Amino acid sequence: MTITDILGKKLIVITGKGGVGKTTVSLALAFLNARLGRRPVYVTLKEVRPGYPFFGFTGGVGSGETELAPGIRAHYIDPTAALDEYVKERFVRLYPLYAAVLKSKAVSGFFEAAPGLKELITIGKVWHLGNRPGGYDQVIFDAPSTGHAVPILDLPGRVLDMVRGGAFRSHIEWVEGFLKDPGKTAVLAVSAPEDMAVGETLQLVSSVREAGINVLGAVLNYTVKSPFTPAEEKAVLAAEDAGRGGDAVRLARLTISRARATTKYGKILRRSRPGAVLGAPRIFKKDLSLEDLRSLSVEIENQAARP
Ligand SMILES: Nc1ncnc2c1ncn2[C@@H]1O[C@H](COP(=O)(O)OP(=O)(O)OP(=O)(O)O)[C@@H](O)[C@H]1O
Ligand SMILES: [Mg+2]
Repeated sequence: MTITDILGKKLIVITGKGGVGKTTVSLALAFLNARLGRRPVYVTLKEVRPGYPFFGFTGGVGSGETELAPGIRAHYIDPTAALDEYVKERFVRLYPLYAAVLKSKAVSGFFEAAPGLKELITIGKVWHLGNRPGGYDQVIFDAPSTGHAVPILDLPGRVLDMVRGGAFRSHIEWVEGFLKDPGKTAVLAVSAPEDMAVGETLQLVSSVREAGINVLGAVLNYTVKSPFTPAEEKAVLAAEDAGRGGDAVRLARLTISRARATTKYGKILRRSRPGAVLGAPRIFKKDLSLEDLRSLSVEIENQAARP
């Protein structure tokens, strides 16, 4: 995975298990774009209310454009509102008779029940953000965690016949067109050095590929390098086994375990060929700031530049 592979896509979909660092990696990619003088937009389906700290930013991320940091713009999309708006703009306008029969308020409720339709409209809206006049160079979609993301991505192929044959056909074909075009869209899976996260990553990669969508690779987040030599590691483990050393030894032991897990799960991931695997280091802080995300973006860029 080179920088060109990442930056060359109009839409990057970031997904992975809950809590693995999807938001962190998405924003780091936004910083990567901005540092290179490009216009990225970070898109989330989770509203950030003003006052709530979001990587130190307290201005909130709502449905308008927010500038999180110079060059880093963010948007929140509310899937229910997106569906509502779409139904009103398209369906009611194109099919006023149906709409009248269903009565205005019931129309949205009716479509709310159509499996997958809301997701289809949402991903269309995500795409649209980057492609309107004066739009962005890249849309980074901080997608829901694995179980909820796959239904969004493999959707066009399985949306109800009712919808497929009817008013939404051209919308489905349009979404299918950009999602399955490897030159336009790619998925990047975020993982962590632990069993469940890696298991989910591998499953995700195969489901997304089955849906005909390009997977660029995975970012293994929370990587740790051991600061110790093998002899020092041995001494730490021996001291712990002997019940000596207290907190400092326990901390050293934890670092060694994390470094070993990084190596182990890095190997497992690479062996399964999810595409390239990049590492994002664990930053030893309780709360990350936007500046930390900027440093992560440098780390990701350096790794992507290596052959
Ligand atoms: N590389 C890292 N180093 C240190 N802390 C990190 C790192 N990556 C993420 N975190 C922290 O871990 C927490 C979870 O990260 P994040 O919110 O990015 O995960 P997520 O996958 O988006 O979670 P969710 O599934 O809830 O949306 C956050 O508090 C974040 O600051
Ligand atoms: Mg998140």
